[in-house]
Amino acid sequence: MGQTLTEKILDDHLVEGELEPGEEIGIEIDQVLTQDTTGTMVWLQFEALELDEIQTELAAQYCDHQTYQFDFKNTDDHRFLRSAAGTYGAHFSRPGNGICHNVHKENFAAPGKTLLGSDSHTPTPGGLGELAIGAGGLDISVAMGGGAYYVEMPEVVNIRLEGELPEWATAKDVILHLLRELSVKGGVGKVFEYTGPGADSLTVPERTTITNMGTELGATSSIFGTDEKTKDYLARQDREDEYVELSPDEDAEYADQITVDLSDLEPLIAKPSMPDNVVPVSEVAGESVDQVIVGSCTNGGYEDILPAAKMLEDREINKKTEMIVAPGSKQASEILARQGWTAEMMAAGVNFSEATCGACIGIGHVPASDSVSLRTFNRNFEGRSGIEDDSVYLCSPEVAAAAALKGEIVDPRDLADELGDMEAPGIELPDQYDGSKADLISPDEAVDDELIKGPNIGNAPIGEPLGAGIHGEALLKMEDNITTDHIIPATSDILKFRSNIEKLSEFTLSRVDDTFAQRAMDSDGGVLVAGENYGQGSSREHAAMCPQFLGIDAVLAQSFARIHKANLFNFGILPLAIDEETYEKIEQGDDIEVVTDVSEAVDAGETEFTVRVNDDWEATATLNASERERRILSAGGKLRLTKEQYADE
Ligand code: F3S
Repeated sequence: MGQTLTEKILDDHLVEGELEPGEEIGIEIDQVLTQDTTGTMVWLQFEALELDEIQTELAAQYCDHQTYQFDFKNTDDHRFLRSAAGTYGAHFSRPGNGICHNVHKENFAAPGKTLLGSDSHTPTPGGLGELAIGAGGLDISVAMGGGAYYVEMPEVVNIRLEGELPEWATAKDVILHLLRELSVKGGVGKVFEYTGPGADSLTVPERTTITNMGTELGATSSIFGTDEKTKDYLARQDREDEYVELSPDEDAEYADQITVDLSDLEPLIAKPSMPDNVVPVSEVAGESVDQVIVGSCTNGGYEDILPAAKMLEDREINKKTEMIVAPGSKQASEILARQGWTAEMMAAGVNFSEATCGACIGIGHVPASDSVSLRTFNRNFEGRSGIEDDSVYLCSPEVAAAAALKGEIVDPRDLADELGDMEAPGIELPDQYDGSKADLISPDEAVDDELIKGPNIGNAPIGEPLGAGIHGEALLKMEDNITTDHIIPATSDILKFRSNIEKLSEFTLSRVDDTFAQRAMDSDGGVLVAGENYGQGSSREHAAMCPQFLGIDAVLAQSFARIHKANLFNFGILPLAIDEETYEKIEQGDDIEVVTDVSEAVDAGETEFTVRVNDDWEATATLNASERERRILSAGGKLRLTKEQYADE
């Protein structure tokens, strides 16, 4: 039987297990990336492992989430990250140089390699044939130390693309269409492998828009094969020698196949406040728009901004609408500026941001209260823009630019008819991506050779080994789809404490209940209760680390998002699955006792745990964990376990 492309790459990197869906496999990691919000802890954990240098082919540290220096904390973090990159041998991308996924795609992503990144949109370079997976920071530290990365062998699903995109439909509409069809849970435990003539018709930047936002489907990764378009992209980035031809075998067997005819697609939009709340743009046309932003790791490339720029050329945006362009990388900014497009957009009324995540996580350009913001981003979870009850729509750059011109949501095809002289911009790559590399510091050019820590930088917390019993209050009962943004908000006023766990913990779940952290501290811990898909969203391990710090021993949820569940193991928190009936019956404030001897049951491989509620009724909860995950739980978390293992070697 032939292999899928995903299986081929995994096979090449397999160090443990078998490629059977659902089985845990260990794979060798070629490249790692980390960014500034997760990176400080990655390096603090790497320091705790007491290793001298990174063992992967390549590691890259980016500074993209918190590039504005409100006070000394971000600046200190960036200095620490530069010093860690220099000390241990990683590339360092300075603040303002761009978003990790964009800069990585431009400089390092390579077909056939494995990439592990401490950011949930790490799968972006799948558009170049790299198998890229998002993980918690601790997994990155361990991979940098030469350890394998363990993941459940995903099901490989074939997305066969037929036809070609019609005018005004874009790669963003391909992924919005899939979100509409499959929902934010549709990709859990899966890799989406794109094939077919429609896939061949897409350029690499279009492919990476799709692979980037595969994360919103909950997918482990998304990948395209390589071809002339890949070779051409690499050549334009001056990296043609890194090209490798990759494709699935003709007789590859997939777990499922979904066919999408690109020629049927039309401009789509995700309504507030979930990326799968997708409708045709025409359905919400006429809604007044206060703000438009083109940017992010999904649609912040040169190829994304150029279509908007062409639409704005010799026109002015509507007086009631503000428009911001936030390029995904300085390379994109520089090329657009050299070609004169920046001036064109400025003349049309656009304001520019530096190349950063910025508004995507509520840092800058926060929408006005009770206003509508259209963004080309990948997420519109409530409150992520920096204001509660926000109204954020997700769309392509073309739909965003059309709204900026009209002052209201409009199908760009209708606007083109109305204006009479606006052509569909299509996709265009620069002849050469010839931006400067001044902001990228290679290990050979390292500025520092020892760690520099400011006063807000603590140490990596190390957990305690698992005890026999878990007994405490159900401190919080939450609904379905609680995101890592709910658990630890990514806004600047909070995330500036990312290297200081004691302080950061005070904000845990404050979005859901602002008394939670205090109550958890007063009662010396307890348990959390949640519905389906608990912990969806980013790979932020602080969302497990802070509950651990507050003494949370277990989370009882109907289901868990993949990366967050791994993070719960990594920080010694027991993730127990409960059925709907149990979920409905448990009330916040109930007394919860796991009556099974937890440490014994975890070690013995037991899957069923008896939970006693209010000393009155009992339910069964399930632990779905591999042997390795059980060892991690037992040890009190992965850092303690890995440290012990390295000490034994
Ligand atoms: Fe940054 Fe938003 Fe992407 S936070 S990495 S631009 S999803």
